[in-house]
Amino acid sequence: MSTAISPTAYNYKVVRQFAIMTVVWGILGMGLGVFIASQLVWPELNFDLPWTTFGRLRPLHTNLVIFAFGGCALFATSYYVVQRTCQTRLISDGLAAFTFWGWQAVIVGAIITLPMGFTTTKEYAELEWPLAILLAIVWATYGIVFFGTIVKRKTKHIYVGNWFYGAFIVVTAMLHIVNHASLPVSFFKSYSAYAGATDAMIQWWYGHNAVGFFLTTGFLGMMYYFVPKQAERPIYSYRLSIVHFWALITLYIWAGPHHLHYTALPDWAQSLGMAMSIILLAPSWGGMINGMMTLSGAWHKLRTDPILRFLVVSLAFYGMSTFEGPMMAIKTVNSLSHYTDWTIGHVHAGALGWVAMISIGALYHMIPKLYGRAQMHSTSLINTHFWLATIGTVLYIASMWVNGITQGLMWRAINDDGTLTYSFVEALQASHPGFIVRALGGAFFASGMLFMAYNVWRTVRASNPVEAEAATKIAVVGAH
Ligand code: HEM
Ligand code: HEM
Repeated sequence: MSTAISPTAYNYKVVRQFAIMTVVWGILGMGLGVFIASQLVWPELNFDLPWTTFGRLRPLHTNLVIFAFGGCALFATSYYVVQRTCQTRLISDGLAAFTFWGWQAVIVGAIITLPMGFTTTKEYAELEWPLAILLAIVWATYGIVFFGTIVKRKTKHIYVGNWFYGAFIVVTAMLHIVNHASLPVSFFKSYSAYAGATDAMIQWWYGHNAVGFFLTTGFLGMMYYFVPKQAERPIYSYRLSIVHFWALITLYIWAGPHHLHYTALPDWAQSLGMAMSIILLAPSWGGMINGMMTLSGAWHKLRTDPILRFLVVSLAFYGMSTFEGPMMAIKTVNSLSHYTDWTIGHVHAGALGWVAMISIGALYHMIPKLYGRAQMHSTSLINTHFWLATIGTVLYIASMWVNGITQGLMWRAINDDGTLTYSFVEALQASHPGFIVRALGGAFFASGMLFMAYNVWRTVRASNPVEAEAATKIAVVGAH
């Protein structure tokens, strides 16, 4: 079998743009995370200005890390993976460029409007209707580019990673459009089309599936390409990947009510959400095990390859957070964990440990290839980044477990006469050391991103235009 160079080339321009912006938004979003974590330690950092208060900057943090950092990583890797596994160029350069500039415009819109206080008040869906409409148009275009490329593929088979990316694109569109149905009363204000408990149910059907499809299914698509590539091993079980794909997307959509335990939501809906969340452990671990077992026979590579370490540790955190989540969905456990920092710890076990680590690993694998380089400028800097990220994540989640359980137990403690043993402020004081450790852990994680930016910059700078151009050529395996 010989490898010939086809005259056509991949569209790496848009992949490079999204990849670089992933690093930029990662630094800004995580930097803002460290800032708001510091505000919880030193409230003076709110500066008594409306646009710098925790209440306004917190949603900006979540929008920047989820949609700007996570979103750009998903765009970059899905465009890379779909082209390489279909052995064809993206269906349209113009539409792909529109998704890049349109997505950046939505993010800039968020940076301007959220600190000004314009918000729908729905978590992870805060952007007001003009930005929400732009986002929907960009997303529909993304779907056209992605699925159009699959249709014109040169391969017979659709690689499993593309199934995950495809489900993430379709379901995110559905969630965004349904949850954003609203009545605009001015350019900056709209009211939800739903009322009361229905509104809450729709919002957490959206919110939980933003986790399930945006922060999980898309990143599993990433996992299915980059783990086997970096380990240089085939996927452990193709059959398992198909089974856990269908089980995951069938179950996730029912689990939203676990965010609304002990609320006005009908009891049966809460119990259904709890049951579905517990069953969700199985497909989640199916994915985690499939990724981990792909390393069979390649474990020794972990000694020397920090990129593989990022990918494997991300799977470990994925396994951990998808064990913790079903436990927290049990109503009696949730009665302790809800409203406490335990939830915040769970969020960041998934967000830092899984989402950010897998994205970072994928970028380190992909960036040299995008620029025609054999490897990143410095492997030891990747190693430094790995340790900063791992220690940072552990500090973050361990401090939030301690805080969460402390808060939950202090809030529910009662004296013999039925009065509360502790005031809210006492529980807050007990949380202060944990807040300091969390800010420190976050600073570790965010500083690792600065090492990454330097390493990426040196790698890109070392590439000459001829090398970068040659990298885009489609190598057709099996051609003569
Ligand atoms: C340097 C890293 C980070 C730091 C220091 C940080 C810090 C914070 C802080 C202080 C909060 C508010 C917690 C509260 O209200 O008590 C928060 C919320 C949140 N962060 Fe981060 N964060 C970081 C990275 C990330 C990343 C990478 C993601 C996602 C990919 C993420 C997703 C979220 C989400 C979803 C929430 C809202 C949680 C909830 O409402 O339950 N964060 N973060
Ligand atoms: C089987 C998988 C999972 C289940 C069953 C699950 C379950 C839960 C539960 C019960 C809560 C607490 C709800 C509350 O008390 O308010 C929660 C919160 C959350 N989880 Fe998970 N989780 C899972 C995986 C993940 C993963 C992998 C991530 C991130 C990548 C994640 C991100 C979040 C976020 C962002 C929240 C906070 C939502 C909010 O209140 O703003 N979860 N999850």
